Amino acid sequence: MKIANLRGPRDLHIEERPLDTSNLKPDEIWIRTRVSALKIGTDRGNYEGAEHVPGAPVYPRWVGDSNLGIVMGVGSAVRRVQVGDRVVTRQPHQSEYITNEAASMVKVPEGVDDEDAVWAHLYALSSFCYRKAHFEPGENVAVVGLGTLGLGAVALGPLFGAHLIAIGNSPTRLEMAQRMGAHEGFLYNDPDLKAKLDDVTGGSGIDLVILTANPWPAYRTALEIVRLHGRVSIVSLLGRGETDLDFNPLSMSLFYTRGISLHAVSGPTGYLYPDGGGGSTMENRFSNDRAAEHMLFLMKTTSLEPKKLITHRFHYSRMVEAYEMIYHREKNMLGVLFTWED
Ligand SMILES: NC(=O)c1ccc[n+]([C@@H]2O[C@H](COP(=O)([O-])OP(=O)(O)OC[C@H]3O[C@@H](n4cnc5c(N)ncnc54)[C@H](OP(=O)(O)O)[C@@H]3O)[C@@H](O)[C@H]2O)c1
Repeated sequence: MKIANLRGPRDLHIEERPLDTSNLKPDEIWIRTRVSALKIGTDRGNYEGAEHVPGAPVYPRWVGDSNLGIVMGVGSAVRRVQVGDRVVTRQPHQSEYITNEAASMVKVPEGVDDEDAVWAHLYALSSFCYRKAHFEPGENVAVVGLGTLGLGAVALGPLFGAHLIAIGNSPTRLEMAQRMGAHEGFLYNDPDLKAKLDDVTGGSGIDLVILTANPWPAYRTALEIVRLHGRVSIVSLLGRGETDLDFNPLSMSLFYTRGISLHAVSGPTGYLYPDGGGGSTMENRFSNDRAAEHMLFLMKTTSLEPKKLITHRFHYSRMVEAYEMIYHREKNMLGVLFTWED
């Protein structure tokens, strides 16, 4: 089998490894990858060796965690899937692998395209930005940062009943946001941003900001545009790989006097589902896998179509080229897929 291995910052290799699929243990599942997806923000941070994220493996390390494949074999006790099923998992970029029944894995329903389904776990995280901050239908939501996670949040907003306003740092990304269903879109440094937001929300303001960009100016925008007593849902890793900030992120004028609530998009899913977060498996309501299942359901039954934002498809043998492109922050690059058939 082939697997991508990051030996150090910007030192990515496709390596050949043995894989014995002839003696599966009772709970083991053998999967052959069809496509894997590149998560630009997280994968770029790992690739360039940005500030270490708690829990992330050290080098040499695997990369990628959105994988769609076909079940090729199952052990005698496996019940969740059978041979021939399509599944999305959170496995690294690799041609085939053996996992077990307890690992994160969701069956793809018939009728959902591979190139949509492979984004299920990423979109589940975008949906978590709403759930964690107790979103209510009808609210005005601004998504700040239009990478894959942000554009996922943009696509979900109208389906969830939000008035969705996209805020980015490039016209290309604003155009993509419009394609994904944003009702309005503005540049974060538009000098009239606040007045325009006031106008499009009829004076009611932004109830919830979903912040998906790491840089401090994006955080500042989020706090400045949210209404009094509004909420900010933070999925980005603030300040990761950025220069030190030059303002107090919790100054009275930005935070206390405005009564804002900040929500970290991690851990349990929220007060309605207190045991639901963190785990990957199906046990908990809105666990990662349950949320991914919900995304697949929306892909099957609504206009949710993540593949609309696929800008590049690479054979896995060209993976280094793709990582170098995201390293150089090419703006026209967004949805990137690797195909694994030789
Ligand atoms: N919490 C979690 O569990 C979790 C899991 C996965 C990912 N993440 C994090 O979530 C974040 C989003 O992921 P992603 O893959 O969507 O990342 P991404 O592609 O880097 O998306 C962020 C986008 O925001 C843009 N941006 C930068 N400064 C901005 C500003 N001031 N105003 C508006 N937009 C701005 C970036 O542009 P430039 O490229 O020009 O900077 C980029 O297009 C990353 O920080 C990632 O590490 C968190």
